[in-house]
Amino acid sequence: MSLFANEMSDAHKDSDIPSPAVIPRKIQAVANSAIADDNVWQWIHDVASSSPVQPIVNLGTGFIDHNPPTYLIEAHKAALESVDSNQYAPVPGSDALKEAIAEIYSPLYGRALNPVTEICITSGAQEGLLSSVMSFVQAGDEVILLEPVFAMYVYQVKMAGGTIRYVPLRPPKEAETKTVSGDSWTIDIEELEQAITPKTKMVYLNNPHNPLGKVFTRAELLAIGNLCVRHGLVLLSDEVYERIVFPSNSSSPQVSHTRVASLSPEIASHTLTAVSLGKLFNATGWRVGFVIGTEALMRPVIATHLVLAYSSSGPAQDACAVGLREAERSGWWETNALDVGARIGKLCGMLDDIGLTYVRPPSAWFVFVNIDNLRLPEEYTYPSLVTVEGTRDWKVCYWLVQEFGIASIPGSCFYGPENKVLGQRYLRFGACKSNEGLEMAMQRLQQLRPHIETLE
Ligand SMILES: Cc1ncc(COP(=O)(O)O)c(C=O)c1O
Repeated sequence: MSLFANEMSDAHKDSDIPSPAVIPRKIQAVANSAIADDNVWQWIHDVASSSPVQPIVNLGTGFIDHNPPTYLIEAHKAALESVDSNQYAPVPGSDALKEAIAEIYSPLYGRALNPVTEICITSGAQEGLLSSVMSFVQAGDEVILLEPVFAMYVYQVKMAGGTIRYVPLRPPKEAETKTVSGDSWTIDIEELEQAITPKTKMVYLNNPHNPLGKVFTRAELLAIGNLCVRHGLVLLSDEVYERIVFPSNSSSPQVSHTRVASLSPEIASHTLTAVSLGKLFNATGWRVGFVIGTEALMRPVIATHLVLAYSSSGPAQDACAVGLREAERSGWWETNALDVGARIGKLCGMLDDIGLTYVRPPSAWFVFVNIDNLRLPEEYTYPSLVTVEGTRDWKVCYWLVQEFGIASIPGSCFYGPENKVLGQRYLRFGACKSNEGLEMAMQRLQQLRPHIETLE
C-alpha cells in the first residue's frame, strides 16, 4: 500500500498509479534509479523486519541507541525557547556555533580559521560532503574513492554525475587467519597516483575510517595530501569520527588522529574537511555537521549548501555551540572515546570467544568481521536478490538475520564492482548498542559456535 494512501480520495487507488515502465522515458529518474539500485540499507531493513527471529539485534546500521550528554539536551531545550533559534539560521550557520568551532579548531589546524568565510554548518556531515562534491564535480569528471568505501560516497559522486575510480586499501597477509588492527590495512600511494587521470577532480578520504576504524598515519596523509597538491585535486576529508579514537590497551597501541588539512598550507588549500557533531555527541538525529576549508574552496560549498539545504536546524546549532565549549571543558571527547572503546571491546571479546577473527578498530563504531570460517548450511534457500548478488557475504548476512536475528552489512557493499571479491570475506558489525543490546548480541553470537570452524 502507498505511504500516501490515507491522503488520497477513492478516485485515486494505488492500482491507478502508472508503474515506472509506462512513465515516458524522458521523465524517468534515470540517475536516481541507478543510485538506489544497490541500496543495501533498505534490503537489510526489509529482511530484518520480516525475519522470524525478533527482536533483531541490529549490528548493521550505525544507529546509536543511547542519548547525547545532558548538557547538550538542556541547551537544545533552552534554544527552543528562543525566537531567533527557531527561525531560519543564517545560510553558512549560526554565528555562535561557527565562532565556537573557529575557537576550538584553529589550534588543531594550526591556523586562525575565519568563522565567516571558512566554516559552513551543514545538515549532518552527509550534506556537507554532498555540497562539496556537487561544487567541484560534474559529468565527465573522475573521483577517486578508497575501498572499503562508505556507500554514501558512491551515491554522492553518481548524483554529481562523476565517474568513480576505486583504489583499495590492502590488508596484511595474516588478516586471512588472524585478527589484525585496522591500521595494518595500507594504501599503495603508487597505485593511487596511477588512478589519477587528466579528468580526476577529487579524492575522498575517510579518516578515521568506516568500517576499518583505521586512523591514517601522518606519513600516509602527507603522501595523499601532496599528491592532491601536485595534481591540483580537491581532497575531501571525511573526519566524522575524529574524536572517537580509543586510548591504548593491551591489544592496541595508542594512535592519534591527524587532521590532513593541518599538515601544510598547500595541503590545507586543497582540502575540505567534513565533521559530524551528530556522531561526536551521539545526536545523529539532529543533523548537524560542518565543513572547514579555505575561503576559495568554501565559497562554492556554501553556495551549493544554500541550494541543497538552505541552512540546518537552528535550535540544534545553537545547542551545539554551547555543547562544543562544554565538551572541551569537561573532557567529553575522552570520556566518549573511552565509552565507545569499551563497547567495541565487548563486541571484540565476544568474537574472540566464539572464534571469529576480525579487523580490530582503533577508532569509530564498527568491526569488520571475517566470515571465512563461518560455515553455511549446505542446503538453504535464499531470496533471488541474494542469489543474483551472488557473493558469499550476502548469503551469510541473510542467514544470520533469518536464523539468529542478527543484522549486519555485507562487506562487499563497501567495494566497487571490480574489488567486491575483497569484501566478500567480511561483514560489518556496529557496536553502537546499549549494554542490554550488547548483552543480547552476546547471546545470539554464542549460538554461532557450532557453525564456526577452528582456524589453524
Ligand atoms: C564515514 C561516514 N561519513 C559520514 C556519515 C554521515 O554523518 P552525519 O550523520 O553527520 O551526516 C557517516 C554516518 O554513518 C559515516 O559513517
